[in-house]
Amino acid sequence: MESSRIPIKAIVSLFCSYMLLSHITTLSPTLALEDCEFPAIFNFGDSNSDTGGLAASLLPPPPPYGETYFHMPVGRFSDGRLIIDFLAKSLGHPFLSAYLDSLGTNFSYGANFATASSTIRLPDNIIPAGGFSPFYLNIQYMQFMQLKSRSQLIRHRGGIFASLMPKEEYFSKALYTFDIGQNDLGEGFFGNLTVQEVNASVPDIISGLSANIKKIYDLGARSFWIHNTGPIGCLPYILANFPAQTDEAGCAKSYNEVAQHFNQKLKEATVQLRKDLPLAAITYVDVYSVKYSLFKEPQKYGFELPLVACWVWWQVQL
Ligand SMILES: *[C@@H]1O[C@H](CO)[C@@H](O)[C@H](O)[C@H]1NC(C)=O
Ligand SMILES: *[C@@H]1O[C@H](CO)[C@@H](O)[C@H](O)[C@H]1NC(C)=O
Ligand SMILES: *[C@@H]1O[C@H](CO)[C@@H](O)[C@H](O)[C@H]1NC(C)=O
Repeated sequence: MESSRIPIKAIVSLFCSYMLLSHITTLSPTLALEDCEFPAIFNFGDSNSDTGGLAASLLPPPPPYGETYFHMPVGRFSDGRLIIDFLAKSLGHPFLSAYLDSLGTNFSYGANFATASSTIRLPDNIIPAGGFSPFYLNIQYMQFMQLKSRSQLIRHRGGIFASLMPKEEYFSKALYTFDIGQNDLGEGFFGNLTVQEVNASVPDIISGLSANIKKIYDLGARSFWIHNTGPIGCLPYILANFPAQTDEAGCAKSYNEVAQHFNQKLKEATVQLRKDLPLAAITYVDVYSVKYSLFKEPQKYGFELPLVACWVWWQVQL
């Protein structure tokens, strides 16, 4: 729980010392990150880090999203800023533009491929017929691949075009961030799988994530920052739909155990990725503990009703 009070900047500089160390100990020629400045961020994920992708491509989140900080909905499925917003700011960047947003975007300091309701695996039912984003992780990877090559063609046009695209060398120096997998678990639960069946699907979900990280590495990415999944059993959409035994925080115990199993497998996968990708620096970030503390000690963080959500009637009509 202590970790929740460590500012992101401190975590990032810890990460940088680690990078420096790995640079020295492996004498890797590509990790020229002594100054620890990531000139860009490329983010992959779901609503936990969507800064406008689903809003631009399919449907904008309605009010009251955004009312407290931005004073209007701004494509985030959150009232305030997201972790990725604070991360971008701590690196001295503006908020990340969503790759799918064709209006007013600037990708010179990175791009965000996350869309709300994205999964790692191909989902069975996709918006508008179903509930999940068509932009699952394999598609986000393909979008990244396109951005990587096409951005350089666009830069060659010069002028304003060049100023809107990342420099070629940013792709190896950037921070690659991931927060995805929560909806793979959710899809299982809402698809009427038992808790045990969803739990048993975890290794396959994780292998989808590892495969994409390897493909992104093969395109030159070196610094990876991977969030684990949050306590899904504390979310109102689980509590309201699936009666279950709850823990002392009021969260659905067995659902959180599945998230914990996911995180255990993810941690093992990062250990394996460090072996398979020798030039990569991979940081596993325990977001679960930080988020769980919001439910366990809500008053400490200024929350009154951590398990209650307001319901916005929001239907897709395409
Ligand atoms: C895009 O952002 C970069 C970095 O903040 C800035 O230097 C550049 O001027 C921006 N381009 C436009 C057209 O606003
Ligand atoms: C899950 O079960 C409920 C209740 O039997 C049913 O209404 C729903 O269509 C099922 N969902 C799926 C995805 O099979
Ligand atoms: C999930 O699977 C793991 C490994 O088989 C097992 O240790 C754990 O108890 C399971 N959790 C649930 C909630 O079924």
